[in-house]
Amino acid sequence: MTAERRPRLEIIVASTRPGRAGRVIADWFIEQAEQHSGFDIHVTDLAELNLPLLDEPEHPALRRYTKQHTRDWSATVDAADAIVFVMPEYNHSFTAPLKNALDFLSQEWRDKPAAFVSYGGISAGTRAVYALRPVVSALGMMPINAQVAVPIRTHITADKQFRSDDALDAAAKAVLDNLARLAPAFTALRAVK
Ligand SMILES: Cc1cc2nc3c(=O)[nH]c(=O)nc-3n(C[C@H](O)[C@H](O)[C@H](O)COP(=O)(O)O)c2cc1C
Repeated sequence: MTAERRPRLEIIVASTRPGRAGRVIADWFIEQAEQHSGFDIHVTDLAELNLPLLDEPEHPALRRYTKQHTRDWSATVDAADAIVFVMPEYNHSFTAPLKNALDFLSQEWRDKPAAFVSYGGISAGTRAVYALRPVVSALGMMPINAQVAVPIRTHITADKQFRSDDALDAAAKAVLDNLARLAPAFTALRAVK
C-alpha cells in the first residue's frame, strides 16, 4: 500500500517593506501549520522572491514564459495544493506586490483552495481580503470562509513582536482544518481534464 502524500501548503507573505509586521505574523502562522501536521509546508516571501513588475510578453494562460523568474514562480505555485495569503491592508485593499505575483501566472492557481491571514488597523485587514476575494476567484482558486484577522494594535508589541491569543490560534486551526479537508478533493479535481 502506498502512503498518501500530504498536501503541500504554500504560504505567501504579501508585504515587502522594511520593518514590516508581516514576517512575524507569517512566522506564527507557519508554526501553527507545522503543529497541525496535515501539510508539507512551503513559504514564499514576496520580499525575497523579488519579482519585477510583470515582464512577460504573452498572456500567462499560454504558459509561454520567457524569463527564468517566471518559470521558477510557476513551478512553485504548480506544486501547491492549497494557498494561504498572509496579507496586510493598504488603503483598504491588498498589496501591489501580491497583485503582481498573482498576475504573473494563470493556470497554476486554478482549482486550489485559498485562505487569508489578514492584519491591519481596526478592520484587521478584512477590507483587503474582500478586495482580494474576486481576484482569487477570477484565477480559479476557491477562497474559503475561515479566516484569521489580526488587529495589529493589540497583537504587535512596540518592539514588533507578535502576540497571539486563544482566539487567533483557534482561527488558524479552523483555516488549516478546512484546507486539509478540501485540498485532496481539489487535487482529484485537477486530475480531471
Ligand atoms: C501604504 C500603507 C497603507 C495602509 N493602509 C491601511 C488601511 O487602509 N487600513 C488599515 O487598517 N491599515 C492600513 N495601514 C496600516 C497597516 O495595516 C500596518 O502598517 C501593517 O503593519 C502593514 O503591514 P506590513 O507591516 O506587513 O507592511 C497601511 C499601511 C501602509 C504602509
